[in-house]
Amino acid sequence: MIRFPALALAVLTCIQLQAQRIAPILIETKNACMVLTVSGNQRVLQSYFGKKIDRPSIEKISGGREAYLTAGMENQFEPAIRMVHNDGNPSLDLRYVSHNTRQDGKVITTDILMKDPVYPVEVTLHYTTWPEEDVFSCQAIIRHQEKKPVMLTQYASGMLHFNADQYWLTQFHGDWAREVNMVEEPLTHGIKSLESKLGTRTNFYQTQFYFLSLNRPSDENTGETIAGTLNWTGNFQFTFEVDQRNALRVRSGINPYASEYYLAPNETFTTPEMVFTWSGQGKGQASRNLHRWARNYAVLNGKEDRMVLLNNWEATYTKFDENRLVELFDEGKKLGVDLFLLDDGWFGNNHPRNDDKTGLGDWEPNKTKLPHGIGYLVEESEKRGLHFGIWLEPEMVNPKSDLYKAHPDWILKLPNREENYGRNQLVLDLTNPRVQDFVFKTVDDLLTQNPRLAYIKWDCNRSMTNAYSPFLKEKQSHLYIEYTRSLYKVLERIRTKYPKLPIMLCAGGGGRADYGAMKYFTEFWPSDNTDGLERVFIQWGYSYFFPANTISAHVTSMGKNQTLKFRTDVAMMGRLGYDIRTNNFTPQDIEFTNNAIKTYKRISPVIQQGDQFRLVSPYEEDRAVLMYVNEQKTSSILFQYFTTPRRKNIFTNVRLQGLDPGKTYRIREINLYPGTKSNNPENDKQYTGEYLMSIGLNIAPRGFAVTSNVFEIIAE
Ligand code: DGJ
Repeated sequence: MIRFPALALAVLTCIQLQAQRIAPILIETKNACMVLTVSGNQRVLQSYFGKKIDRPSIEKISGGREAYLTAGMENQFEPAIRMVHNDGNPSLDLRYVSHNTRQDGKVITTDILMKDPVYPVEVTLHYTTWPEEDVFSCQAIIRHQEKKPVMLTQYASGMLHFNADQYWLTQFHGDWAREVNMVEEPLTHGIKSLESKLGTRTNFYQTQFYFLSLNRPSDENTGETIAGTLNWTGNFQFTFEVDQRNALRVRSGINPYASEYYLAPNETFTTPEMVFTWSGQGKGQASRNLHRWARNYAVLNGKEDRMVLLNNWEATYTKFDENRLVELFDEGKKLGVDLFLLDDGWFGNNHPRNDDKTGLGDWEPNKTKLPHGIGYLVEESEKRGLHFGIWLEPEMVNPKSDLYKAHPDWILKLPNREENYGRNQLVLDLTNPRVQDFVFKTVDDLLTQNPRLAYIKWDCNRSMTNAYSPFLKEKQSHLYIEYTRSLYKVLERIRTKYPKLPIMLCAGGGGRADYGAMKYFTEFWPSDNTDGLERVFIQWGYSYFFPANTISAHVTSMGKNQTLKFRTDVAMMGRLGYDIRTNNFTPQDIEFTNNAIKTYKRISPVIQQGDQFRLVSPYEEDRAVLMYVNEQKTSSILFQYFTTPRRKNIFTNVRLQGLDPGKTYRIREINLYPGTKSNNPENDKQYTGEYLMSIGLNIAPRGFAVTSNVFEIIAE
């Protein structure tokens, strides 16, 4: 009875809409476009996505598959959304109502409003494009005006549809100290899912990115490929479903695992953005698109310089005191770094943080180790010309802490079962606003008391297990979502007060690296594995999706058989830093490091802001070669890492990329160890860009040691 008028109105609206054919909705960038059409029954279809096409072709497009597939009606495949209404009806029918497009500077957004003709439910698909960077995003905004909450069991950010002969999926899996291992495989019929259920530190096993290549595997320079991710620092899910007709549906969103969401009337559920870029020229172009987009829009201070830092973690672990730190400041000064970063172990008094068993949550300086507090450390480091930064793990607590005793109800744990620890710690219940205040205050107090603190490393060393929120009570299925939203609330507060402060995102190695978080962070920690050789692969893996200025890369004493030069050259391909004792450095090591830091500061604008070209993959050859080129194509840096010296190795010329064919460039090997000269046949030669990109450089590594070279290629 009650619904009749609404239904009648909806039917009328549908009839009106049927009368007027809606022109194709175009979501486009410089080189790619998506065409959405409205079918006769008012469904919004994705009719095309790929290379940019002309207007006459767009006008001819018809058919396609629903852009945001619903459940419970005729769709028999994985839905983008599934809703159970408060009368128990599990169906949803989304019909086009209106759309509008806006431009804000260089960014274009299109909102497409859809409504259910029977239930008062509406979904807006919100598309954003960054045309210059060829990057797209999509998110769904879900609302309803039913009397009571509806239950959402699926709430994807969006879907992409493809029709190709074959699909090749590239994924990156990992674990602690062995992050981002790349695998490319064909998709077969059925569903492949890349996902995380870890709650926090969610990238631990599966990196939050994929490449989807159409018809054949893509390489660096050829092939049609889509690079995708989700801006969400929580459980994520990408499903790839190949149907009986070989059509592919890609669904991206929050992982709905154990997360039925009860959406109250008039509450808005906004999904995170699924971000994707299209490339007709392989993975290299897709990466460069994302790098540019990240620097311009998605990463905090993306266009600004990064500091070279000395961290004390691998040098001291938690075993240090004030005097030892001051010695390390001296070492930092000797090396020529900009900042000293004090890692874990500085806090806790009743429960001193002398190992990883105690103290998390008690964020006051340990009086035995640091009798003069943090202010003294800031002063002493500044006296030596260094800024000072500090480590925090504000989302966590050790049971052996004052915080645990004072607030047992601030912790995620099952009320009637034994506590389950990861690294001897538990996760705080960030869904509780009082915990959010505590986390904000932890950061705020440190920065208020020490206004010259110049850097924070924000760590997160465990994922969720046995998770139960005392605050959420009967709404436990909201925990994973609310946790991430709460984390963003805290980060938002921090950024409102401290908009520019550099903060490194870290999660027990590379457990958190996503663009949902990166708008609050300047860089991330890719792995606790800092062995130079391993880092060639790990940093290579991250480079598919992140620009060099976000990838923290430290020279450490791991990889002892590698030279200091090798480890330094590897760290230079990201945001260079150090985490090493220098007491056994020879005078030449110090001289080398001084010069390396000076060199890095000179060339880092090219590395951090330039276009990256991966030239030779360490997955395919026993070396890795990559280069960065500035926007004017006048300056370029090329790195070569000889990863596996074998007698069988035969290396051909490396063809460069991204240069100006008409310019003449001089090749100079730089970052040489004191007392050594370049014996590379190409050193000091001059070539045109045309020559370098067509014939290439003969820089074949020789010998039987793991070695590396850095070349500067400058237009004359
Ligand atoms: C894990 C991080 O990845 C390390 O760099 C270090 O900060 C430790 N946590 C400290 O506990």
